[in-house]
Parts: sequence; C-alpha cells; structure tokens
Amino acid sequence: EQARQIQQTLAEFRLSKNQLLEVKKRMRLEIERGLKKDTHKEATVKMLPTFVRSTPDGTENGDFLALDLGGTNFRVLLVKIRSGKRRSVEMHNKIYAIPIEVMQGTGEELFDHIVHCISDFLDYMGMKSARLPLGFTFSFPCYQTSLDAGILVTWTKGFKATDCEGEDVVELLREAIKRKEEFELDVVAIVNDTVGTMMTCAYEEPTCEIGLIAGTGSNACYMEEMKNIEIVPGNEGRMCVNMEWGAFGDNGCLDDIRTIYDQAVDENSLNEGKQRYEKMCSGMYLGEIVRQILIDLTKRGFLFRGQISETLKTRGIFETKFLSQIESDRLALLQVRAILQQLGLDSTCDDSIIVKEVCGTVSRRAAQICGAGMAAVVDKIRENRGLDHLDVTVGVDGTLYKLHPHFSRIFLQTVKELAPKCDVNFLLSEDGSGKGAALITAVGCRQRELDA
Ligand code: BG6
Ligand code: GLC
Repeated sequence: EQARQIQQTLAEFRLSKNQLLEVKKRMRLEIERGLKKDTHKEATVKMLPTFVRSTPDGTENGDFLALDLGGTNFRVLLVKIRSGKRRSVEMHNKIYAIPIEVMQGTGEELFDHIVHCISDFLDYMGMKSARLPLGFTFSFPCYQTSLDAGILVTWTKGFKATDCEGEDVVELLREAIKRKEEFELDVVAIVNDTVGTMMTCAYEEPTCEIGLIAGTGSNACYMEEMKNIEIVPGNEGRMCVNMEWGAFGDNGCLDDIRTIYDQAVDENSLNEGKQRYEKMCSGMYLGEIVRQILIDLTKRGFLFRGQISETLKTRGIFETKFLSQIESDRLALLQVRAILQQLGLDSTCDDSIIVKEVCGTVSRRAAQICGAGMAAVVDKIRENRGLDHLDVTVGVDGTLYKLHPHFSRIFLQTVKELAPKCDVNFLLSEDGSGKGAALITAVGCRQRELDA
C-alpha cells in the first residue's frame, strides 16, 4: 500500500508522449507571441534580439577581455584571437567568488565587486594600462537596442541586487569602472551565455546555429530570420534571438503539468511566479523539487521513520552534484546512503531506494520537458527555411548537462522523438561562453571601424 502511494505521487511527474508534444506545441505558440509586434509586450517567452547577426567566420582578430557572470562561476578572461590560416584562440582566466550578500545586496556593491575582480585580474596579467575591448557575458534577460546596451528586464536564479532592474547594465559597469579610477576599458558587447555558447561552438562548427544552457538556469538562443523579428527594423538576413525560455509557463500555460511540489519550490524562491519552466528543469531547482517530495513522503510516514530533520528543512541542500552522484549507476545503495549521511540524513536501505527513485523521476521529467522545448526550436528553424529535413548543431553548456549521468541522454532522445524531421547534433562548449563573448566583441570592434 505504501509503495502504491509513493508511485501515485511520482506518477504526476511521468509525462506521456502526448503531454510532451503538447509542451512542444505550447512552446511554439509562445515563440510566435514573443516575436510578433502586437503580442511581444505581454509575451512570457521574450525572444530578445541580441544584435548578433552572424556566427564567426574566422576573420576575428585581437586581444579581448571577457567577463562571465551568472552561472556557477564568475570569471574574468583574457582571450587572444588570431585570424588567418593558423587561426587560434588562447585564453587565460581566473575564477572569483561572488558572496551571496553581494548577489543580493545593492547594485553598486555588485558592480564594484566585479570591477575589483577585473582590477585583480589585470594586475595578475600585468595589463593595467592596455585599455582592452571587453565583452560582458551577463546571463540574465536583457532588452537590447544595440550590441552594447542591455536593460536588465528582471533578475533570475540566485541574484537580486537592488537598483539594477530597468537599468542598462553596460552603463552600470562603465560607471563602476569610472568610480574605481584605476584603469580604462572599452565595453563593446553584452552577451547572454546561450549566445556566447553558440558562438564558441560555431567557431569550430559552422552548422551551429543554436545555443543551449542546462545549468543553474535553463535557456536557449538561435538564429532567427530578421523578417520574423518584428520589433527590429529590417528584413534581410538573420539575427540571434535570446529566447529566455525559462519564463515559459509564467502565464499559466504549464499549470496542468505542474505539481504541488513545483508550486512549493516556486513559493520558496526569490522570484515567485516567475521562471516556471526553468524551475522544472534547471540545476538550481531540481534538488528543491526533490526536497519538497521527500518532505511530503516523510510527513506521510513513508521515509526517514517519519522524522523531518533540520537538514531536510534546509533550502538548497541537494545541489546538482549530489543529485548526479545519487543517480550514478555505478553507485551501490550503500554509497547512496553514505551521501545522504553526509548531508545529515539518516537513511535505511529502503529509504535510499526511494530517494534514488525520486531523484530519477524528477531529473527525467526535467530532461524531457527541456527536450520538448528544443524540439519546438529546431522545427521552427526547419519551417523558417522551408525544409522537409533539417541538419543542425546545438552548442551546449551547463553543469546539469555536463555532470548529470542521465540528463543529456534523455534530453537527446526526447528531441529525436518529438522532432523526427530534424537531425540534431549536440556539441559541448569546451571553454564556456567567455570565448564567444570575445568573438562577438571582435565583430563589434570591426563594425565600429566600418561605421566610423
Ligand atoms: C559556463 C559558461 O561554462 O556555463 C557560462 O561559461 C554559463 O556563461 C554556464 O552561464 C552555465 O552553467 P552553470 O551550470 O554554471 O549555470
Ligand atoms: C536564466 C537567465 C538566462 C540564462 C539562463 C542560463 O534563465 O534568465 O538569461 O541564459 O539562466 O544561465
């Protein structure tokens, strides 16, 4: 009877092919709403123009600084790109911590901290006087009117610094550099991590026209036809669109598949009611869904002898790396118990079997709905080009995709099943999106010279 009730709870997370096709269909609808002049203002999937009009062609050249803010790590990078026959990219980078007080303090503190890290990096490289062009990978929704202007629409994930929403973050960075009075930089481009990832991969593989992040957050970008991006003037060629698909569902269109556990995760988050799709499929929230289910099963007496420990009440205990370990097939149940023990959860052998099943069910649904979103994107591109069959490459980054033992496999399988007319090849981004930001900066610098 207990087993039956547990299965009943988990059944809500097990989506049928029809349900997934429905998710794909709804994503497609939201894509259209985001692109159209009449509907884009209230659209949840914002389809933000990026002013990146082509993928790299190998002629990019120069030395650039890049910042990479918004994923697990904050990094400052020096990227040296050489064009020509022996084209190459050389990178130096340093990772810096952003304390939670800074992520959730004032905007001024956040940007002063960023500039402090740049200053340290320039000292470290011995380049304080160089006045390099800089590309800023800023992994949040920004409304762009050019390559080097981006108004923060809303913070997502774990950030909540004051006085930034509605502001141009490039200006906030420039002002912080001025305040410091130590060095000059030329901020040329603001770049979403999906776009940086797409560009990084496209440098090696020209068929790459989509970028995907399955990490702390979840999002995608792709090359859309200019004529379909109604809010940007011009009908020629293509432009990369940052979808901000994490907000899919914020109008209630996924409510039929959201569970009470998804609602609890949302209520406990920094941005209630927002990023509902992201909260079902990205690394920052999967562990929280698991935790909510475990709390409920414990309350009902099916787990941990009915005792809710302080640990289980703690937000964020199940990081992606723990879920990945728990779900690793190479791990014996005894080891699963050891992991739970490490987290401060005293489990029996039966408990560990249940916990593992809960984790597996939650991450499978995540991979499937993420795959349904991607299926909508590749089919959209195929139809844009009037093709019966599309071959395309997706550049991918993110800890969930890279570390989790099953996510990527289930994701790929789902895309294949839901978009049978597309052959989709996935390419892991090796050096993160900093390299892509530098490539975009190179193009931006060249464009400026042409305009001058
Ligand atoms: C990194 C990219 O490698 O992956 C970042 O350089 C990106 O730009 C990140 O934000 C996403 O993954 P995660 O798991 O760190 O959020
Ligand atoms: C969040 C951000 C988005 C970013 C994604 C992955 O969804 O809003 O801009 O691309 O996380 O980091």
